[in-house]
Formats: sequence, C-alpha cells, structure tokens
Amino acid sequence: MDYKRAVTYLTQRGQAHLLDYFDELSPSEQKQLLCDVENANFAVVKNIKKAQNHKTGKLTPIPAVTVEEINARRSVFEDVGLKLLEDCKVGAVLLAGGQGTRLGSDKPKGMFNIGVTRTLTIFEQQMNNIKQVVARTGRFFPLFIMTSYINDAATRAYFEENGYFGFPKDRVHFFIQNVAPTCDFDGKVFLDEKYRISFSPNGNGGWYSSLINSGLNSVLERENIEWLNVYSVDNVLQRICDPAFIGATVLKRCSCGAKVVKKVSAEEKVGVLCREDGKPAIIEYYEMPEKLANKRKKGELVFCYGVTLNYLFSVQALNSTLSGKLPYHLAVKAIPHVEGGERITPVTPCGYKFETLIVDMVKMMDSCLAFEVEREREFAPVKNSTGVDSVDTARALLALNGVTL
Ligand code: UTP
Repeated sequence: MDYKRAVTYLTQRGQAHLLDYFDELSPSEQKQLLCDVENANFAVVKNIKKAQNHKTGKLTPIPAVTVEEINARRSVFEDVGLKLLEDCKVGAVLLAGGQGTRLGSDKPKGMFNIGVTRTLTIFEQQMNNIKQVVARTGRFFPLFIMTSYINDAATRAYFEENGYFGFPKDRVHFFIQNVAPTCDFDGKVFLDEKYRISFSPNGNGGWYSSLINSGLNSVLERENIEWLNVYSVDNVLQRICDPAFIGATVLKRCSCGAKVVKKVSAEEKVGVLCREDGKPAIIEYYEMPEKLANKRKKGELVFCYGVTLNYLFSVQALNSTLSGKLPYHLAVKAIPHVEGGERITPVTPCGYKFETLIVDMVKMMDSCLAFEVEREREFAPVKNSTGVDSVDTARALLALNGVTL
C-alpha cells in the first residue's frame, strides 16, 4: 500500500490520525507503518458497541459426570481414551500466547519458576505431567504450542535449550496467534511508536483459526487427529490428554468436554459451565447475574461447575463451526501509546484490547460434557504473584501432590 492509498483507506475508517507523524519517519519506518496499515484488522474496532451491548440469554445449570461416577467407571472410560491415544487420534494444544500481566513477569508465563529449592518452571511441570500419560501409552501425541508475536522466540528457544523436556522435537509444533489493533475509548487505534500500530494478542479463542492459518492443519490431516485437548499454561496440576476424560467425552457422545471443579464459593472468579438458551455455554464470573451465582438447592450452589481451561474438542465439530465468527470481548487496559508526539506508558486504563475467548467456542458446540475433577489434584492456577490463585497457592497444591519443589 502506498501513502496516497493509505490516506484514503484510513480516512474511510476514521483512523487517519495514524499518519500524523508520517513525514518525520525514515523510509524504512514509513514502509513499516504502511505494512501495519495493510495488515491491521480495523473492522475489530467496530465491535466496541456490540461487545458493550452483549445480553446474556436464559441460564440453566448443566449436569456433570461427577467425581464419584468417574471413579466408579474409570476403567471403562480409560480403556476408550487409552485406545485413542495409542492409535494417535488425539493431539494437545497448549495456549501460551497470553501476556501474564497479573503475574508481572516479562518472560513467557510458562518460564516462571515455581520451584523453591530448585528450578521448576511451569512449562517443565506441565511436561512432567504429560510424561505420565506417555508412559502409559508408549506413544507421543502431537503437541501444538500457541505463542504470540511477543513471546514466540523466547518460548521456542526455551524448549530447544531444554531438549523439549524429553518430547521428540518433531512432535512439537509452535504457531503464533493472530493479533488485533488496540484503541482508545472512542475507537481511535493507538500508535505503539510513530511508525508502528499498537497490536495485542487477540485472546485465546483464536487458537483454532491461528493453528489453521499457520498451516498446521496438514499435521491434523496427515495424522488423522480426531480430538484436540486444549489447555492453559497457568494450571500446574493440569492433566493433559487424560484417558478418562477422553473416554468419557467419547462414550457420552459429546462434541466437546470441559474439565470442571466445584466452585468454592459463589464469588470465586471462574467461568461457570451451564446452558444458555439450551446450548452449552460458559459464563464468565463478571457476566453471571449475582442472583444466579448465589442460587442454592439443598445448600449447594446451583451453578456450581467452574471451568479449569482444559477442554477436549472434536476436530470434526471444530471444522464445521469454523465459519462461525467468535465475538470480540473488550479488555479495558493501560496501553502504552504515542500521544502528542511522545510515547507514554499510562498506569490507569486508557483503552481497549480486543479478545476472542475459548469459552465462546464451547457455545458453538452442540454438546459439552462437564467432567468433574478434584480441585486439589487438578486445579492449581498461577494467575497472580500473591493471594488467590497465586504462586503460593500453586506451590502448596504441588507439594500436596508430592511434587518436590
Ligand atoms: P488469561 O486469561 O489468564 O490471560 O489466559 P493472560 O494473558 O495469560 O494473563 P493476564 O490476564 O494478562 O494476567 C488464560 C490462558 O489463555 C492463554 C494464556 O496463555 C493462558 O494459558 N492466552 C490468553 C492466549 O494463549 N492468548 C491470549 O491472547 C490470551
């Protein structure tokens, strides 16, 4: 795109201010800015009104396959799951594109050291968890790792330096998630530098389209992968490719499954798996009406199943919903940007980042199995540096599970 075209293109989209400093730039910087203009998805910004006007439908609880039922039928579920793993019909997808701002580390979140007397990073701990299932099946499944343009190089280098933690290198496939422009509260896209548009990773909902865009569907097709187990980087007790979870989802004929835990309180900050207008849905804690969050039957919370960000998706179901567009959610953030000719780093929120969420993919599925797991054994999220869901709470739970820290 040349300058003249960029002026028309941006004016039509109400973003002509992005060229305010064009005359001050070197030829290579001008080229960079024009390239950003060409690549930016300005349509995303139109989502501000839509996202603000989002209305939740009629919510009803969803029954789960409970810990008791799972324990009673474990061998039945596991046999089915193990067979699929042995036949290499299941792959895993690690969502590691987040910025982990709450943890306050500028490295990829997975490189955070949760060890005490030794170094044990989140990545290493999760790879140790994977080894347990590999030991049972004798087969390595393909492991897809989603990064962002911000942490991709560091993540790849870390896996390389650590010999992929014993996983064969050719079974690990990295891909970079897509980005969206950031903007102020009026929808004016920010400049990160005078010659760069401000972009941020577009949330964890874009994982499947990013995987496809990167060409990795060739691996899915070549290996005839039928199921993908998608999990977050921050849960250090994450059980990846759990045979019982896979088997239960298949036997219950669901197109996806979600590992859930019983909420500890109505206020716990987890998304709740339920039904919205009869379809499976996950309602984020901040979207759940207080009355429903507190509703109880025989003393128990009615909307009691919190998601742990560990999902199993049928590849066939993913492919048939691919054309469906995921809605963008607004994240109100303090975003560094150029203002009055200077780059500033605000401490208070000044605009929006746009994110699609994996929870919205569940809404696109016709069925979702709520698979209850024991919190103490499988849910130790590292979100904050102190307090709830922090490094301290995760360490305590790891110790409880016999992990030497
Ligand atoms: P979070 O919602 O906790 O976000 O991510 P975050 O970016 O890691 O942390 P904060 O909010 O800035 O503190 C849940 C999971 O989704 C992944 C994260 O890496 C984590 O595994 N994620 C999140 C992505 O892969 N991409 C994104 O754009 C956002």
